[in-house]
Amino acid sequence: MSKKNLEKIKKDFLEKFKKANNNLKKLEEARINFLGRKSDLSQLLKTIKNLSPEEKKEFGPLANETKKEIEQKILGAIDKLKQQVDLNKDWIDVTAPGKKIKIGHLNLLSKTQREIERIFTSMSFEIADGPEIENEWYNFDALNIPKNHPARDLWDTFWFKNKREKEEKLLLRTHTSNAQVRYMEKNKPPFQIIIPGKAYRYEATDANHEHSFCQFEALVVGDNVSVANFKSIAQEFFTAFFQEEIKIRLRPSYFPFTEPGFEFDISCRVCYGKGCATCSHTGWLEMGGCGMVNQRVFQAAGYEKNKYQGFAWGFGIERLAMMKYKVDNIKHFRSGDLRFIRQF
Ligand code: FA5
Repeated sequence: MSKKNLEKIKKDFLEKFKKANNNLKKLEEARINFLGRKSDLSQLLKTIKNLSPEEKKEFGPLANETKKEIEQKILGAIDKLKQQVDLNKDWIDVTAPGKKIKIGHLNLLSKTQREIERIFTSMSFEIADGPEIENEWYNFDALNIPKNHPARDLWDTFWFKNKREKEEKLLLRTHTSNAQVRYMEKNKPPFQIIIPGKAYRYEATDANHEHSFCQFEALVVGDNVSVANFKSIAQEFFTAFFQEEIKIRLRPSYFPFTEPGFEFDISCRVCYGKGCATCSHTGWLEMGGCGMVNQRVFQAAGYEKNKYQGFAWGFGIERLAMMKYKVDNIKHFRSGDLRFIRQF
């Protein structure tokens, strides 16, 4: 061992250390090369024990000092670098713009139903409900549609299978009119309600017809309610709903539970009367049926005949949404296609 050896090791180390240039991998290599068990320095240190006491005195402290110096430099640099890497990992840029979280929203149908409810409640209507699984009485008989009446052919119906022969026949309601008598049995006029909800028909589907769809029923009953009241409320509602003047057309029609009865059309807002697939090229879109409540319906609810007058209507909610938001096919509502849903 000589002073020269130690100086050379130190010189070599400082060169390597400089070249490592804060590179963690290179620093690790240098650590192994200069401090590892097989390094020149370790080998040198092992030979100290063979030296004479004078030589030990001279080289011992010198060799240990060199080792300490190298250790301090290299381990210090490695520690510092590791800390920096950890900092980089945990670093948060508090000034970076936030990431937008995608949140869902109401389906167009729910949105439309809520809009309808909002307009009617602002006109002092109450919102009532009725069951979707109904018996024959409330869906047909109480509405003056007896068993053999041809009007029952108007609605092809989803019937439930009876387990026993004498069991009450149940069906998926074909219209929200089923709730009329249910409500009137429990409430005395005057009242004005709407009944929004689902209805079901076993029928061929097309751009305007689905087997499951939504309707809302309006029922206004009092001592002196007339067709004029109906027209003004309808006008008020459609103006508020479409936020523009739209044309209304009443056509005489027949519903066993009205007398007189009408079909109610509004001008097509997709083609503005020119004719398109939405309005089956007529310029008009059928919104629903309406009319003055037949006295027989009042009687079915337990009211005295001719004591009250009232009007009722039943409109399709999809049809309204199609008109307002220019949807060309009723199938879009339940398609689950996000490209459609996200537009509204
Ligand atoms: C009725 O359902 C009567 N209950 C409405 C009524 C109530 C008349 C009170 C008089 C008094 P209608 O079958 O026409 O009538 O249906 C009413 C509306 O529901 C239709 O104009 C249409 O907007 C909507 N509708 C009917 N069938 C379907 C269907 N398959 N798909 C989508 N909407 C439909």
